Amino acid sequence: MSTPYEANTVSYADGMIREVLIIGGSSSIGRAFASAATMRFGRVTGTFSRRIPSTTVTGVNWVHLDIRSQESVEHLLEVCPAERLSAVYYFPGYLVESPTSPPSLDDLTESLQVNVGGLIQVFERMASRVPPGCRMVGISSRSALKPSFDVAYAAGKAAQLGAARSLATKFPQVCFYLVAPTTIRDSRMFLSMPEVVRMRHEQRLRGDMLSPADFADVLLTLDELSDDDLRNRLFTVGVEEEP
Ligand SMILES: NC(=O)c1ccc[n+]([C@@H]2O[C@H](COP(=O)([O-])OP(=O)(O)OC[C@H]3O[C@@H](n4cnc5c(N)ncnc54)[C@H](OP(=O)(O)O)[C@@H]3O)[C@@H](O)[C@H]2O)c1
Repeated sequence: MSTPYEANTVSYADGMIREVLIIGGSSSIGRAFASAATMRFGRVTGTFSRRIPSTTVTGVNWVHLDIRSQESVEHLLEVCPAERLSAVYYFPGYLVESPTSPPSLDDLTESLQVNVGGLIQVFERMASRVPPGCRMVGISSRSALKPSFDVAYAAGKAAQLGAARSLATKFPQVCFYLVAPTTIRDSRMFLSMPEVVRMRHEQRLRGDMLSPADFADVLLTLDELSDDDLRNRLFTVGVEEEP
């Protein structure tokens, strides 16, 4: 009897197995994408940080990662060799639960570490080792482009955009791009924030929200495009929100 991991192994005509790493694949939209990705890619490795992933996501090889820890990043690079990867997705984000004015130094540090520092650590370390044309995809936010009630989050996402552009120039053999969803229905990220609860309620009434599965579909559809259509671009997905 084959394990779920073997059952999801697909051989391509040229003998290559497409292997993908999903950083932050264990909850909300990352989990929906990890689940959908098992149908597209031959091997899927996903990371989690605090919560053991749900057993409903089968076929994913799970690895623990705290992106703020150098040791943890080293461990990931060891167990998931970059040379085998055809795509790496970066989902971790840090949004301040109750933003203060101004944001605390701790919140600023955490936002920069999780939203952008981790992406740089992993993407830059892997970029010189992945096969040419490997996709490196960051999950961005409208807050990278527009004002946000959470200044620390917006700063982290704007810095992520700057980092992705610079990495794309530094490693032209890699296909870097970002994808910014509109608000995702039922995601854990914003649940406790009054401004967001109100905005989400209005969006829900207007039918403006994406489900995690819809967004996963968008990511898979983008994966079908050519490198030239994707390289160094930021795709915004879903209906525009009010600032
Ligand atoms: N949700 C939305 O409506 C929305 C809208 C626009 C943009 N986005 C962006 O989409 C991305 C995903 O959002 P989401 O709602 O799915 O977030 P989420 O539920 O908080 O999931 C984030 C993922 O990253 C992992 N993670 C968190 N901190 C980490 C750390 N220090 N080290 C390593 N992994 C860590 C989480 O693992 P654990 O669960 O184990 O901690 C989880 O797998 C974020 O970048 C967010 O900014 C979301």
